[in-house]
Amino acid sequence: MTIRAVVKGCGHYLPQRIVPNSEFEQTLDTSDEWIQSRSGIQRRHFAAEGEMTSDLGTKAALAALADAGLTPDDIDAVIVATSTPDLTFPSVATMIQERLGMTRGFAFDVQAVCAGFIFALSNANAMILTGQANRVLVIGAETFSRIMDWTDRSTCVLFGDGAGALILEACHGNGTNADRGILATDLNSDGRYRDLLYVDGGISTGTSGVLRMQGKEVFRHAVDKLAATAHTALEKAGLGASDVTWVVPHQANLRIIKATAQKMGLPMERVIVTVQDHGNTSAASIPLALSIGQADGRIKQGDLLVAEAIGGGLAWGSVVLRW
Ligand code: UT7
Repeated sequence: MTIRAVVKGCGHYLPQRIVPNSEFEQTLDTSDEWIQSRSGIQRRHFAAEGEMTSDLGTKAALAALADAGLTPDDIDAVIVATSTPDLTFPSVATMIQERLGMTRGFAFDVQAVCAGFIFALSNANAMILTGQANRVLVIGAETFSRIMDWTDRSTCVLFGDGAGALILEACHGNGTNADRGILATDLNSDGRYRDLLYVDGGISTGTSGVLRMQGKEVFRHAVDKLAATAHTALEKAGLGASDVTWVVPHQANLRIIKATAQKMGLPMERVIVTVQDHGNTSAASIPLALSIGQADGRIKQGDLLVAEAIGGGLAWGSVVLRW
């Protein structure tokens, strides 16, 4: 018998306000046509004034708990992937723990920017496999609208706000790749590329800062690194691209998603795409795509998924799991 971290439930939350590309045409030298053709994005959600990352994450967590048929008392650990915490500390995870009424277990944040959810899932998996927790609530929640330079057309049209959550539970498997649950993970980072994508604020400046990105350079790294990490994780699981039911990529740019799928040798019919509706929601993008893919009936129990992401750091990685 092998222990596996199996998905028991999944949910998401998007703020009410939907902002179409056309809204940016009023304040910037940009167009719906440019944004759609260069990124695939048509609209995104922005949090309301006073609506914080912890609010979005709590709502996504409640949706995942409802989907799993569990209560907060059933959860041993909360891990939140975010780069837009409400405060420098305490963690968003402890804020959500309190909001859920949990008085036991432990909670902490993971910060690996757009790859954050992959890093959080890998952490949760390791905790389950080592017996530190039986049920882990893993949340990706972001309010990137709070770190935009609204005068920089090359970045502010690309990002959005949202949250998604998964509940992983320790279950017995046979130790084969036919088991449900996380089958392999692959994590990478290379700090030499930190200047390609960063926020120019923090403790060193006394401001929260705004996002700066050399988009073309990030794009160049993304396709190669995403295809490579997906290949590595599949190989670790003893699987290949032809075994994959769904690729669930980080939703940053439709052109990156297409080029990566092509490099993996998979048609777009096998890729979950939500970037048109959400923009880039950083660590929230993969759990949002998982939740939407499950809700609309595409992702079914037993499907083999490979999720992959890259972002600031650079940090990138992938997870292979059977749903
Ligand atoms: O989630 C973390 C990972 N991040 C990413 O994966 C993002 C990766 N990068 C990208 O998605 C793309 O590089 C972008 C969407 C950011 C940009 O697409 P691009 O095809 O690389 O365009 P570019 O940066 O080379 O810009 C092309 C032109 C430039 O004008 P010139 O210099 O050719 O005259 C830009 O100034 O497009 C201009 N431009 C715009 N034009 C209209 C840049 N932003 C805009 C805009 N509207 N919003």
